[in-house]
Amino acid sequence: MPYSQEDQQWIRNQLRAECIGREIITYDSVDSTNDIAKSLVGESDKEGTVILADSQTQGKGRMGRTWYSEEKVGIYLSTFLKPSLPPEQISQITLVAGVALAQAINEFSRTRAFLKWPNDIILNGKKVAGILTENHQNNTHSGIILGIGINVNHSHFPVSLQHIATSMAMENGEIFERLPLITFLVNHLDQEYRCFLDEGLSPIIDHWNLNSDMFGKQISMTQGTETFSGTAMKLNDQGHLVVMMDNGEEIDFDSGEVTLRE
Ligand code: BTN
Repeated sequence: MPYSQEDQQWIRNQLRAECIGREIITYDSVDSTNDIAKSLVGESDKEGTVILADSQTQGKGRMGRTWYSEEKVGIYLSTFLKPSLPPEQISQITLVAGVALAQAINEFSRTRAFLKWPNDIILNGKKVAGILTENHQNNTHSGIILGIGINVNHSHFPVSLQHIATSMAMENGEIFERLPLITFLVNHLDQEYRCFLDEGLSPIIDHWNLNSDMFGKQISMTQGTETFSGTAMKLNDQGHLVVMMDNGEEIDFDSGEVTLRE
């Protein structure tokens, strides 16, 4: 079912937000919740408004991919933020969101989900959720669009995604209510975001490390047309992934696509 007025009210009653989730707007179907959030960027008082849709017709993933956004079974939400951050630190918002997202999925899932740098949540080796952070600027205003997609109750995926995507329901053998997951996520997003603004990235990296199992593992890192192989070591104090190459050299990556090799 799409979100009803009662659902919207129930969510509002559960939110304790100071910034993210001060307001929530639900839709049945939209092109992309990130694009709706972009249209709010000119209205500063709408910062932190959560856009929630039951389905998306043009859900966007990273690297120009599409995000499979079937109705009734997923969570598709976006918000816009206006932190005063230099452009090179904007990707840190992805780490902030990843912490809240892993906490939310693990609050409900019996099978533990783990973060894979920079923006994936993995359940039993397949992707269950993702984050798309976009820097949006128009003539007069700028903001960061934060979009989150969770595969909650999907029972199947298109053939092209079957080897990489999963849902909470498929891995746990049970159906989950979306509303408690949404409110837990938004409340924790708000909490982690305020922690980031008050204390910086250091506590976020600690929380991120607690929710990842990738360190010490063999990975391939793709950046553009280049692929590097090595061992994922840690996040540095800017949230970049430190990889020890097979030749022993340590390199910090500020972006890229990671594949776990084991
Ligand atoms: C990725 O892992 O590639 C990022 C996926 C992000 C998907 C979400 S769904 C809600 C929001 N609206 C979009 O169009 N994309 C993000």
